[in-house]
Amino acid sequence: MSKSIAQPSRRVVLSSSAAAAIGGVVSGFGLSRVITPEPAEPKQELTTAAYREFFGTYQHGILDDPQAHAVFLGVDLVTDGLDAAAQRERLRSILRLLTDDAVRLTSGRGVLADTEPEMAAMPANLTLTVGLSGATIQLIGSSLAPTSLNPLPEFTVDRLQEEYGQSDLIVQLCAEDPTVLAHAVRAIRKNLRSITTVKFEQRGFTHAASSQPAGSPFRNLFGQVDGTANPTGQNREIAVFGFAPEESWFPHATTLVLRRIAMDLDGWDELDRPGRDMALGRRQSDGSPLSGSKPEDPVDLSALNELGLPRVSAHAHVARAMPTSGSEVLWRRGYSYLDGADAGLLFASYQLDVEASFIPVQRRLAELDALNQWITPIGSAVYGILPGISEGMYLGQQLFEAAGQP
Ligand code: HEM
Repeated sequence: MSKSIAQPSRRVVLSSSAAAAIGGVVSGFGLSRVITPEPAEPKQELTTAAYREFFGTYQHGILDDPQAHAVFLGVDLVTDGLDAAAQRERLRSILRLLTDDAVRLTSGRGVLADTEPEMAAMPANLTLTVGLSGATIQLIGSSLAPTSLNPLPEFTVDRLQEEYGQSDLIVQLCAEDPTVLAHAVRAIRKNLRSITTVKFEQRGFTHAASSQPAGSPFRNLFGQVDGTANPTGQNREIAVFGFAPEESWFPHATTLVLRRIAMDLDGWDELDRPGRDMALGRRQSDGSPLSGSKPEDPVDLSALNELGLPRVSAHAHVARAMPTSGSEVLWRRGYSYLDGADAGLLFASYQLDVEASFIPVQRRLAELDALNQWITPIGSAVYGILPGISEGMYLGQQLFEAAGQP
């Protein structure tokens, strides 16, 4: 999915009228921006940078294999006494701004009025993926948001902290390079400063692209191979977008569940290797199921050992998590987080329908999962991820049009 930017197939140039329109939007909210000249076109051929196409049927950053670094930026609209119509227009302005920023940043250019456009020159497979809470979607059109985008029910294992809770908008930014990512996050935050407040900025990481073959599962901070049973290729696309566009809450849209799950690394240290393997149902060594010998072997809950006991315990994480039907399949695109002793997983799953897939799986895990002793969900939010767009459109435009707000 990634391409070298040596010869970008598409130069995304904002027309002067579009630029003026955006400038108007911005000044309309009282922002003072110093407009600096566009950076010069890169002089030498960029051989190490890569970019992921921004425009398309779906937004990027969803089906793609995860880049090494991620930031989940949750923001709330500043509504300060605005009526619903004005709030809707503010939301539209935010989405226009985000679209313009995303187009520029992912194609190796700074955002409008960027003070450090040089930092954007090597996009390093940067993706920006935008979603809205159910309530924010309702602001566009009351009938647009399905009930499955209602806030998640509270699960018995949850110890949720408000600071990692639901925000109006989510911007998932991912890149292979943390410096590129830092610049992109800062540029977006600056541009949205007076019309939004930041609810959270959650940072995560996985392996560097150079350290393992593309598309491999990752090692989470427990040392487990994570993602072995994740859907790949067309199965991933079906799990996330369904068989046909009408299946999703909006054509070519999907949903994201973002859970911050603390992991007790010190407690996990006390568990020996057989105990660790038993709690998961797969071996830490290579991710193979205890009922098989290779990672790709199926998890067989009926397989018995020489004592006649199940090889994979009924309490094991994989035994509880495995889908009971096709509609329960999730695409887990998570990232580790670590800040001193504060360690865990930014569990991020994309799925067609949260009610049909994530909720039943999470309910089973809350009820009984051997891993529960060492993991605690402390943040939780759900978003409707907007459909992809073509050049000249802004993210969310199809929803405004469907709601009769073109
Ligand atoms: C910190 C928390 C968690 C850790 C450390 C963790 C770890 C793992 C690992 C190592 C595997 C086995 C390899 C694989 O197939 O990916 C796995 C499987 C899985 N996990 Fe988790 N997980 C966590 C939370 C969750 C949550 C919250 C959900 C969903 C609600 C979930 C759903 C799944 C599913 C669906 C599978 C695949 C089961 C199968 O089909 O075999 N996990 N997890």
